[in-house]
Amino acid sequence: MRAPLIAGNWKMYKIINEAVQLANGIKRELLDFMKAEVVICPPFTNLSAVYEVIMETNIKLGAQDLFWEKEGAFTGAISAIMLKDCGCEYGIIGHSERRKYFGESDEAVNKKVKSAQEVGLTPIMCVGETQQERQADKTIEVVTRQLTAGLEGLESEDTANLVIAYEPVWAIGTGITASPSQAEEVHKFIRSWIEDKFSNPAAANIRILYGGSVKPENIRELMQQPDIDGALVGGASLKSSSFVNIVKNAVIE
Ligand code: PGA
Repeated sequence: MRAPLIAGNWKMYKIINEAVQLANGIKRELLDFMKAEVVICPPFTNLSAVYEVIMETNIKLGAQDLFWEKEGAFTGAISAIMLKDCGCEYGIIGHSERRKYFGESDEAVNKKVKSAQEVGLTPIMCVGETQQERQADKTIEVVTRQLTAGLEGLESEDTANLVIAYEPVWAIGTGITASPSQAEEVHKFIRSWIEDKFSNPAAANIRILYGGSVKPENIRELMQQPDIDGALVGGASLKSSSFVNIVKNAVIE
């Protein structure tokens, strides 16, 4: 049984005071909420302050990126071990905005995934096609390439410490959500790919999140799909009320 996982990606929003306020709002509502795993991913500058707010709760901390080296002369970079030290348990890797604006390659994603796992930080590895790729009927091809390269060198047991997020680029921040059946089609494919590449238990246990314009109003029907295990939420994670409602509506009983 896969526990639902809802992760909030705050992107480049919130200065420290605002971040603490948002974390407190989420904590107030979800303090005793045990039916889903909740992760919030603030910008690097807010990690420690947010950790102070959530440290004794079930809410977990994640980072939005990391660099694969442990330490060294890499100006501006943050390593997985530094994120662990700030209280992070998760790290988003290969988000389409990193790929688009920072030129992140599938090979870089692979190094980041491995370096996160080495220190026990769970990667949330993002895959997804652009609008153009979908129109050219290349969705499965693109996702296959991203999975193959991103997870190169991993063993079946490594998938116990891995989350995949399917985020169609055309659905991110656009208000256009993939329909539940469009999303399910790709999620199902990802799970079968995991089974072929790794093992049946790996496929049965890995959580695959959907991301792209998730809101309190559409999370339920997405979660009703058999292969959608949670969501990576951008815009709607920046207000405690909408994020909390997404978390609550994600639980299907
Ligand atoms: P969105 O972003 O919810 O604002 O579409 C999702 C994401 O980028 O992870």
